[in-house]
Amino acid sequence: MQTHQLAADRVVVADAPAESVEAAARDIADTLCRRLSVQPTVSVALSGGTTPGPLYARLAAPPYRHLIDWSRVHVFWCDERCVAPDDPASNYRLVMETLLADLPRMPDIHRIKGELPAGLAAQAYARELAEVFRGPLPWFDLVLLGMGGDGHVASLFPHSPQLVTSRSVVATRSPLPPHPRISLSLRAINAAHEVVFLVHGASKADIVAAILAGREEDPARLYPAALVRSQGRLTWFLDRAAAGSLPAGATTEEPKL
Ligand code: 6PG
Repeated sequence: MQTHQLAADRVVVADAPAESVEAAARDIADTLCRRLSVQPTVSVALSGGTTPGPLYARLAAPPYRHLIDWSRVHVFWCDERCVAPDDPASNYRLVMETLLADLPRMPDIHRIKGELPAGLAAQAYARELAEVFRGPLPWFDLVLLGMGGDGHVASLFPHSPQLVTSRSVVATRSPLPPHPRISLSLRAINAAHEVVFLVHGASKADIVAAILAGREEDPARLYPAALVRSQGRLTWFLDRAAAGSLPAGATTEEPKL
């Protein structure tokens, strides 16, 4: 059978979402522990949505709750909705409830102030990133992304003018409520050492195949997720359903559990 190289360094396909979560948690913990063995702190940027909650809960549970020295982790967000931090739609609230609230040692938390107007929140977050990273562009050790059903990542939506910017943070508008959003820019995401996608479900299979296997002439024109790069590794964790449209012979790997 002809092999088909995919547009990522690694594509890990698990039978079910729970297995995909387990594989992603292990991989992320390995990355953070490896980097913490050679540097004082690590910085991670996390996404919202419905997919990553179980991953955050898995990282908050043994062995990872103790394996990772969370007091040396700086936690950022890839994006936020313009809502209060206790709003059910808040990505901050999602990560607090599933990952951070119960950790044995608290990380440094860098919340996007969704309660502010989007422009002001974006400016405040950009200032905080510049302060932490001592320069105009953040370089996260790891960025965790999901992908929307339209191929968006963070709060960067198809055909958005904010897809092309030199800034690190942008104010955007989601087609779905809550409409006003704050998001890392592609430039900030793509400066990361490692970028990890966690994408599950058959509804995303065709866009996953368009992006990873080039099943459309120019997926980058249609899907922001196709514009994501990494300075180091780019890894996609998929369940079998989200991988369902990949071509036979696609170079994927089984999860190491
Ligand atoms: C958000 C997320 C967003 C998410 C995708 C996928 O604020 O909603 O950051 O980018 O990753 O919309 O969402 P699901 O995981 O719910 O499919």
